[in-house]
Amino acid sequence: MTFSFIRFYLYFKKKNSMENRRSFLKTACKPVVLATLGIPILNACSTEEMLTESPSTSSAAPSLESKEPLVIDLGSGSLPDLTKIGGWINYTQEDLLLVRISEDEIRAFDNRCPHQGNRDKWDYDGSNFTCQYHSNSYSNSCSGSLRCFTTKFEDNILTITFD
Ligand code: FES
Repeated sequence: MTFSFIRFYLYFKKKNSMENRRSFLKTACKPVVLATLGIPILNACSTEEMLTESPSTSSAAPSLESKEPLVIDLGSGSLPDLTKIGGWINYTQEDLLLVRISEDEIRAFDNRCPHQGNRDKWDYDGSNFTCQYHSNSYSNSCSGSLRCFTTKFEDNILTITFD
């Protein structure tokens, strides 16, 4: 009788242990499982590993490299922020930062932040654009880090060429 009880106890303990292992393997993340098996993995277990790209980097706009020249008539009242010198706009429909430099010059930049590619949160202080995600600033010069496009501004018509 005692012997049977011991056998039953050992069987129950082993079965319970096996279920705990299965449960552990099902619920633990892969790096932890591999590490317990002696396989070193440097990945961390977090939800961040699922974030491959910031949502703000994706855009319905076509790639800027393949776009036809963009022509905007500022005289029609579109983009009123560009009517005065120093005015600017994050023109998200076209993935562009536009800034009025002078009476006859408007600069156009790709609004993709060089840091992590975000496009949607920009500030402008009169000479630098600042991405609000990590506060990096970029010059409004075409020799800076922001990708600059060729523009022509005549008779209130702005033409941007994506070369
Ligand atoms: S994504 Fe723009 S500063 Fe980091």
